[in-house]
Amino acid sequence: MSTTVTTSSTSTSPWVPICHIDDIPVLGSRRVERPRGPAVALFRTGTGAVFALLDRCPHKGGPLSQGIVFGERVACPLHNWSISLCDGVAAAPDEGCTPRFAVQVLGGQVHLDRSQLAQLGTDLPLPVAGPVRA
Ligand code: FES
Repeated sequence: MSTTVTTSSTSTSPWVPICHIDDIPVLGSRRVERPRGPAVALFRTGTGAVFALLDRCPHKGGPLSQGIVFGERVACPLHNWSISLCDGVAAAPDEGCTPRFAVQVLGGQVHLDRSQLAQLGTDLPLPVAGPVRA
């Protein structure tokens, strides 16, 4: 599932409403497209906690929104790195981190931080995929 969000409304609230928590499958995700930069992935755990990460694995840019959620982690669908939903850090021995976004859930409505949506992770270089050339 996917949502497209705009961050240029006239609202002065620091939070942007995204969707209802039930729009995110349990142990699943919802992709949030931004006007600029890579999408954000919302995740819902088995206990109902909601997290948000840049939808880009720190390894080679795999779409974390298509990964498998277990506990408070997501397994990347490309090479199975395990990424923490709490802070975006890859589990050892892998190394790397994907940006984490602040989430607020009020009355079942999921919100993301307006300034983070507009800026966080928008200037990251394109992910490297395939064999590295010397
Ligand atoms: S791109 Fe995610 S594990 Fe390789």
